[in-house]
Amino acid sequence: MSLKEKIDLNRLPSHIAIIMDGNGRWAKQHGQLRVFGHRNGITAVREAAEAAAELGVKYLTLYAFSTENWNRPRVEVNALMQLLLQTINQEVTTLNKNNIRLHAIGDLDSLPPRNRKHLHKVMEETANNSRMTLTLALSYSSRWEIVEAARKLADQIQSGQCKPEEVNQQCIEKLLSTHDMPDPELLIRTSGEMRISNFMLWQIAYAELYFTPTLWPDFRRDDLYKAILDFQCRERRFGKTSEQIQNVKKQE
Ligand code: IPE
Ligand code: IPE
Ligand code: MG
Repeated sequence: MSLKEKIDLNRLPSHIAIIMDGNGRWAKQHGQLRVFGHRNGITAVREAAEAAAELGVKYLTLYAFSTENWNRPRVEVNALMQLLLQTINQEVTTLNKNNIRLHAIGDLDSLPPRNRKHLHKVMEETANNSRMTLTLALSYSSRWEIVEAARKLADQIQSGQCKPEEVNQQCIEKLLSTHDMPDPELLIRTSGEMRISNFMLWQIAYAELYFTPTLWPDFRRDDLYKAILDFQCRERRFGKTSEQIQNVKKQE
């Protein structure tokens, strides 16, 4: 039985988020410059997106460039922006063929104008695709997003649209860039690092975390299947006791 066949399709995470990490180390292992690792990471993006869509995962979010990544050497940042531009343009056909909608979150205004323009173009060209939403987190950080939400909330209160005593979790969720998608149920990070690096801090409150030593350019379909199988072995308790969860299962 293949790994894919072992997956229970009725218990798929509806939203998987991935912190794609390890490109630089992968390049080093191959005696190459960091950008070689980023270039080779594209195959992994394609594999993960196609595998998730084929299974029936509705949302896949990839952390591609963080707010903090602007602090990397200029040549690397430029190479990453160039690669992003090239990739989104190249992949439109594949996205449409696979019925995948491209979406982006983050401070898109901070991207080079050409990237912004092409990103919006591809998002429009894939807007009607319905099998899966592939979201790229670009110039994204969770604290940036929460500050933006706080600013919008302050505006709503100042203009009388909302009263302070009416502020609840839903109000905040509506103001996050992920307002139109469910929270990730599974968060994967490659490369062996065990940290979140400012990614979806609000949204992963109850996500199952999965860390793998595989470096991102080596990530293939089977790695995604392994993460999903691991997820399916977890007992998600949401604060309740194991007995409560088991009783509900028995009643079903
Ligand atoms: C992830 O790989 C890609 C980005 C953050 C853009 P890294 O470039 O962080 O690779 P390592 O962590 O240095 O190996
Ligand atoms: C996190 O990776 C950001 C992305 C994957 C885009 P980093 O490699 O930038 O994270 P840190 O700096 O090691 O935490
Ligand atoms: Mg890294």
